[in-house]
Amino acid sequence: MMSPILEKFIDKCKQQVNQDNSPIACVEGLIPEVKILMSQADKWIQSEHLLACDDHYARNVVYLDEKNELGLYVLVWNPGQWTAIHDHGTWGVVGILNGTFHERHFIRKDAQHHSANTDIKLVNTGSVLLSSGSLTSFIPDPDHIHTSGNSGSDQVISVHLYGHSMVGFNIYDLNKGERHWFNASK
Ligand SMILES: [Fe+2]
Repeated sequence: MMSPILEKFIDKCKQQVNQDNSPIACVEGLIPEVKILMSQADKWIQSEHLLACDDHYARNVVYLDEKNELGLYVLVWNPGQWTAIHDHGTWGVVGILNGTFHERHFIRKDAQHHSANTDIKLVNTGSVLLSSGSLTSFIPDPDHIHTSGNSGSDQVISVHLYGHSMVGFNIYDLNKGERHWFNASK
């Protein structure tokens, strides 16, 4: 059963999407709600949300909505665990609950339209380090291309709210200059 805090948060998210589902309205409208959710984490997070994995970072589903408009996850990163370079094809709000979250950013330098999946040339434009209590957000078009991970020595725990519930993202192949949609729900 969903905790009342989580229920209230999901209601706020749905209200926002129904009122204005533009990516910028969603991230600006929901950052304060994610901050509240983070401040009450001990009241809604269950042990099933905190599972870690030895081989790779762990993505623990908290909530997926039936209309494919919202997805809420808790991600657990052991030291040295990173994602591939990716974008989400939607908006997102990310909050850090524990440890230092490292996000490395890329931009596309190819002349193709940003939605092209080939002849991609990426340039690393630097990193941000987000400590416990920090929030960040992104919207697509141009895509927010990044790799996230744990470069520290403590376990990182982060909360991720996305504008779709499909567990997938675009993964970039730097050598081939290509990206493809990875459907992680299969
Ligand atoms: Fe990401």
